[in-house]
Amino acid sequence: MSASSRTVEPAARPLKGRIVVPGDKSIAHRAVLFNAAARGVATVRGLPDGADVASTLGAMAALGCRVDRTSVGEVVIEGRDFRFAEPASAIDCGNSGTTMRLLMGLLAGQDFRAVLDGDASLRRRPMERVAKPLRSMGAEIATTDGRAPVTVRGRALTASAHGMTVASAQVKTALLLAALQARGQSEIREPAATRDHSERMLRAMGAPIATSNARITVDGPGRLATIDVDVCGDASSAAFFAVAGTIVGESRLVIERVCLNPTRLGFVAILRRMGGRIEIIERGENAGEPFGDLVVEAVPLVGTAIAAEEIPACIDELPVLAVAAATAEGRTTIEGAEELRVKESDRIATVAALLRAWGIAVDERPGGMLIDGIACVRGRRFRGNVKVDSHGDHRIAMAAAVGALVADGCVTIANADAAVVSFPRFFETLAEAHA
Ligand code: S3P
Repeated sequence: MSASSRTVEPAARPLKGRIVVPGDKSIAHRAVLFNAAARGVATVRGLPDGADVASTLGAMAALGCRVDRTSVGEVVIEGRDFRFAEPASAIDCGNSGTTMRLLMGLLAGQDFRAVLDGDASLRRRPMERVAKPLRSMGAEIATTDGRAPVTVRGRALTASAHGMTVASAQVKTALLLAALQARGQSEIREPAATRDHSERMLRAMGAPIATSNARITVDGPGRLATIDVDVCGDASSAAFFAVAGTIVGESRLVIERVCLNPTRLGFVAILRRMGGRIEIIERGENAGEPFGDLVVEAVPLVGTAIAAEEIPACIDELPVLAVAAATAEGRTTIEGAEELRVKESDRIATVAALLRAWGIAVDERPGGMLIDGIACVRGRRFRGNVKVDSHGDHRIAMAAAVGALVADGCVTIANADAAVVSFPRFFETLAEAHA
């Protein structure tokens, strides 16, 4: 077992009370990077203390941006108005695909050369999906067999029309950042709607961007005005507790101040379709993002079919939805989720391995899986006293801990500290919720 293994015991009691999850990772990356590219000074509060956003903060400092940490989760950023400084050495994006891909779009229009690198997992992830369209705008980009390290030599960019082939908010955002630095009108078409945090925030910063259906236009060059952001709770982190509160009998949990952007709430719709009881209480809006509380009550679930068109709105939640499906009565199918194979781990393979360790029948497909739930409502439990592995993937580590709550013995999770990428206090928060 690795040094960072953790053993999670079956839940002895229901999960109760109110919990807070870290600030939304997607919004936080954008609040830091977009403000760094804007004119003025901004305060960003509620930043998650996970490793991923630290990678973006480090990258901005490496590009000459002044970022002062003023208190816990709070930074003051002096915008560079799209004039960054050449970094002295390779920029380390750690485990963060969002950092690397967004930086590629930003650096495509900067008049210097920069090398972007990351950890072993990030070095396995595809980068040509970003490099290729950026090259068509004039940037010089070299990948390493399609992956990191990536060298970007920024150039004066020309506007272009992009028909994206993968539904990816990271690719879309990289293109938006390049389009803001290009002369003329750029157009971006998505094959399916992905999370729209970039469009919302850029619009709030005064960017010349318009959206209609799946088509976004940018009239470049566009300048940005800094904006203060109070980052709301991460819907993807909340999803672990939404599932935990649903599957541990008698639970009732309130997850406070969660991002309610509809492009992130696919998991709520899917859990409700499975019989889940999740109430949404809207609380307000900040920097174009609605937020509020999720109230979750335990209830037995039934299997469902998760279709290809639903995938972009629940892509990061699929590992924990698979755990929910394993507790359900009947079969759950997941289709059109090929993208899971190129996340922080191959999440079709790592989720299937996790469920099998618990004795669940899983049929792995190229773009999804079939899961035969064991109907925990009849008192059945996942097989306990087993060892599973996060494979260094934060969402697998946390999904494993949620499933462990309904096992008939302890579950030991190797490489459990992967959770620090998005939720450093995950295990403590879980323990507090059923204290
Ligand atoms: C993200 C987009 C998604 C998601 C990732 C965060 C973002 O990735 O899985 O965790 O912040 O734009 P893709 O763009 O690869 O789908």
